[in-house]
Amino acid sequence: MSSSIESRRPSKVSIVGAGSVGSSMAYACLIRGSADVVALYDIAKERVDAEVADLAHGSEFVPSRVMGGGDVNETANSDVVIITAGARQKPGQSRLDLVGVNAGIVSSLMSQLVPQSPNAIFVIVTNPCDVLAVVAQQVSGLPENRVFSSGTLLDSSRLRFLISQWADVTTPNVHAVIAGEHGDSEFPVWSTANISGVPIRDWTVDGEQTFTQEVLDDLGQEAALAAYKIIEGKGATNYGIGLTGARLTEALLGAGRCVLPVSAIVHDLYGIDGVALSLPRLVSRDGIGDTVPIPLIDSEVTELKASAERLHETLLAIKS
Ligand code: LAC
Repeated sequence: MSSSIESRRPSKVSIVGAGSVGSSMAYACLIRGSADVVALYDIAKERVDAEVADLAHGSEFVPSRVMGGGDVNETANSDVVIITAGARQKPGQSRLDLVGVNAGIVSSLMSQLVPQSPNAIFVIVTNPCDVLAVVAQQVSGLPENRVFSSGTLLDSSRLRFLISQWADVTTPNVHAVIAGEHGDSEFPVWSTANISGVPIRDWTVDGEQTFTQEVLDDLGQEAALAAYKIIEGKGATNYGIGLTGARLTEALLGAGRCVLPVSAIVHDLYGIDGVALSLPRLVSRDGIGDTVPIPLIDSEVTELKASAERLHETLLAIKS
């Protein structure tokens, strides 16, 4: 008689696009053991075969198995499919500038990927990820809980890192989210940010307030502009977003429900309807659940609405 462990179907994440983002994500998933099987797929066969071979050569040292290649059927029967393929930002370009070319790429990919993995949850990483999550949901007709985007999970991680450095505590002690667009209109939700339960504005060292308004403004700006700075320096971001994809895969395959700031379609929230933007959401094997009702203050609601408006206009521009 086989044990339940032996008979369990291996979990599978497929990563679409073997550029620096997709390859780094596959590497992060492999070394973290985010899924039993990590598949990498790209139409650029020579490139993807080389990446898969390189990753496979470390098989002895990782808990997961890698596969992949230039045929879409490499992604078959995935539990999670993460799309990273598309044009990437050049220095000076915003994420929204990529929408024209990447909307076509993501639409065409969805029509090929969904038949391969009809029960998968689809995560859009390709930018502008908030807009493309809506496009992917609409072209596929999949339920809204099964198509979403990594949104500001990475930006929030950047912010938590910056706060942790300023306060000289470890990142897991810091609770803070960036909400809205994964892009220029994103904003930190300072009203709820805290370090181990202490509201961030009340954190003191030697009786002095550590996080003055000026410090908060600087940290928020630094997190929001982080990708631009990295693109100036090395042409692309890849490790941070790679780890973000691995973390999301774990949340989607894990036993419990996680609260993560990700971008999914919202309805009837502060008058926002039908755009995807980031707020803390429940993430589990069932995909995206409810928005966690963090108590935004009035100025944050205004920022959220401005972000939604910008995303809404970009969506309308694609359709026209
Ligand atoms: C970044 C890319 C993924 O923020 O948009 O690094």
